[in-house]
Amino acid sequence: MPTVLRGLSGRLLWLTIIFVMLAEILIFMPSMAGMRMNWLRDRLDTAAAAGIVIDGLQPAELPRAVQNDTLLATGTKVLALRKDGTSRLLAATEVPPEIDAQYDLAHTSFLGSMRDALDTLAFGGDRVMRVFGPIGDSDMIIELVMTDKALRTDMLKYAKKMFFISLLISLITSVLIFLAINRMMISPIRRLTHSMQLFSEQPEDPYRVFAGDRSRGELAVAGRHLTAMQVQLQRTLRQQKNLADLGLAVSKINHDMRNILASAQLMSDRLTDVEDPMVRSFAPKLLRTIDRAVGYTNEVLAYGQASEGAPRRRRVNLSDLCQEVRDMLAIDPDSRIEFVEQISSDLEIDCDSEQIFRVIHNISRNAVQALLTHDMADPKAQRRVTISAHRLGSVVGITIDDTGPGMPRKARENLFSAFRGSARSGGTGLGLVIARELVLAHGGTIALVEKPGPGTQFRIEIPDRPVSLDDYRARAL
Ligand SMILES: Nc1ncnc2c1ncn2[C@@H]1O[C@H](COP(=O)(O)OP(=O)(O)OP(=O)(O)O)[C@@H](O)[C@H]1O
Ligand SMILES: [Mg+2]
Repeated sequence: MPTVLRGLSGRLLWLTIIFVMLAEILIFMPSMAGMRMNWLRDRLDTAAAAGIVIDGLQPAELPRAVQNDTLLATGTKVLALRKDGTSRLLAATEVPPEIDAQYDLAHTSFLGSMRDALDTLAFGGDRVMRVFGPIGDSDMIIELVMTDKALRTDMLKYAKKMFFISLLISLITSVLIFLAINRMMISPIRRLTHSMQLFSEQPEDPYRVFAGDRSRGELAVAGRHLTAMQVQLQRTLRQQKNLADLGLAVSKINHDMRNILASAQLMSDRLTDVEDPMVRSFAPKLLRTIDRAVGYTNEVLAYGQASEGAPRRRRVNLSDLCQEVRDMLAIDPDSRIEFVEQISSDLEIDCDSEQIFRVIHNISRNAVQALLTHDMADPKAQRRVTISAHRLGSVVGITIDDTGPGMPRKARENLFSAFRGSARSGGTGLGLVIARELVLAHGGTIALVEKPGPGTQFRIEIPDRPVSLDDYRARAL
């Protein structure tokens, strides 16, 4: 973090000082002009008062000494009064000198007065000027000739005073602005930054989440967003960690399970030799199931836990596939769950049979589990899982429908998101995620269908692989 003076607030402090000084410069010229005009007007007024008195006297009545004193009092070299078109020299300390500048106080514009003020400040000091203006509302005009030395000295004094006042004002303003901005902006920003820094050092620590306040300022809103973001990030991190831990655990379990299943496979091979008809009818199914399990575990080990292998597609009889799912589900006859299959026996689907088997198995297993836990008390409740499928052009649509309680809210809101979707005890919330991943790998879609009655319906659509014209012709020949 930068120190206060080098940081944002320090820069603001300097900027405020500079801006206030700039503003003061803009005020400086008009007030200098005003001061100069007032100074001249004062002299003219004093001279006018004296002039009227002198004008009333006969020249002989006014001794030379008095004339000089009068002129000295007004700082003037020559004093004249213009009346009824004639000008009368009232007094003069010396022969009227050469005039450098003339100023008519009655007809000076605002800009003109500023220009004159600047001119006096820059070049004045020993110039002789003639100043004239009306006396009150009368038509008499008083006129003086004087050097501008005194005027310039007073103007310089005034400018110096103004400079120090401006400096003081800008210092006070900037300190006030600095304090206000520091309190309203810099401190909250520093708090935000500090929190981000702390949080990034240890994002899992819940005590490092930014504690904002409820006020309505922009920074408070930013603070609340930061809090929300940090909380969300912590949640994601926790999930990621869970996933990573789980991935490792799955790999380990899977590894050893494969070995156990391989032994089971060896042992069950021997069952085919047993003569018992019961064993004879079950043995092939058992073998097939174990084979399948070994296949999965190998696949998981080969591809890692993150993604499934690419589907190895061929045309498969869907009815047979569903039959295998039913066998695998091994629904207890006492549970009175009906498993209905409405699939024409020659319907073929272009897919990886193992993967689509897993899709249908996961979804129908969910349905059976929902039916088992639903309404056990009601003996008349109808419990049915229906799988129907049709081919339309090059797409096979499969619908898996049940008469269960319908998807719980939590499962609906987190549909197809790993670990979050499960709303039943003992569920991992992976079944639907796996199903979706496998369907998408086939270029298909899977969706939960809104239906009027109770129960749940999933719809899967699997398109055939596109066939190039050349392939088709080669096959047709
Ligand atoms: N047919 C259904 N009827 C009612 N609820 C269902 C149905 N299918 C899914 N669900 C709900 O959706 C949730 C998510 O299902 P999913 O198969 O993804 O996970 P799971 O069954 O909980 O765990 P597992 O990973 O073992 O399959 C289930 O917990 C269940 O609450
Ligand atoms: Mg499931």
